[in-house]
Amino acid sequence: MTAGRLITIEGIDGAGKTTLAVALADALRARGLAVELLREPGGVAASERIRTLVKDPALRIGARAEALLYAAARAQLVEEALAPTLAAGGWVLLDRFVDSSLAYQGAGRALGLDAVAAINAFGTGGLTPDRTLLLSLDPARGRARQGTRGDEPDRLEQEDDSFFATIAGAYAAIAAAEPERVRVLDADRAPAEVLAAALRALADLLPPGGASTSGR
Ligand code: TMP
Repeated sequence: MTAGRLITIEGIDGAGKTTLAVALADALRARGLAVELLREPGGVAASERIRTLVKDPALRIGARAEALLYAAARAQLVEEALAPTLAAGGWVLLDRFVDSSLAYQGAGRALGLDAVAAINAFGTGGLTPDRTLLLSLDPARGRARQGTRGDEPDRLEQEDDSFFATIAGAYAAIAAAEPERVRVLDADRAPAEVLAAALRALADLLPPGGASTSGR
């Protein structure tokens, strides 16, 4: 049985994570891999409830509670979905994971990366992605893309530009510190080009014979 793999997708709001996640899951399945596509916060029932709560613009939630809620949602996702799937040799493609908490709560909310890393190590039991695809985009472009989605901004999307600039900077620092795990993709490209870059960034993890990318 092939080893399970955890691939995470990260980036600021509006970077195109969800679009890439759906296309990449299809592309990996076309290569014969069993791929489960999940998102954070969410993915399992209790974590989806926490998602609704933590994104609610009507609620007052302090930075520490926010960090703990994301970590709690993550802990349940790991126990209920990620650990069993990975143990069975499956691939999980995950839209956000611990790096989101490091960037948004550690840097954006100024809780500090070490404190946020510690509660997440407790929550996840130390589970680390095999690879992380970081969609890099100028925060102003992310903002503009969000604006065209037509949804009401959620509790985090209501933050100002400097919050998202801080987060983008934190992501870049994480990528620089862990270049083997974290691969940076230019999110300002067309979706097909971003997908091709993502497949190239995963090529060494793909089973033999399944690593080709069309380069489209
Ligand atoms: P999204 O799934 O639509 O990107 O929404 C998730 C929101 O929650 C997004 O604004 C980023 C934020 N978030 C955090 O602040 N910390 C986290 O750990 C995670 C997973 C998400």
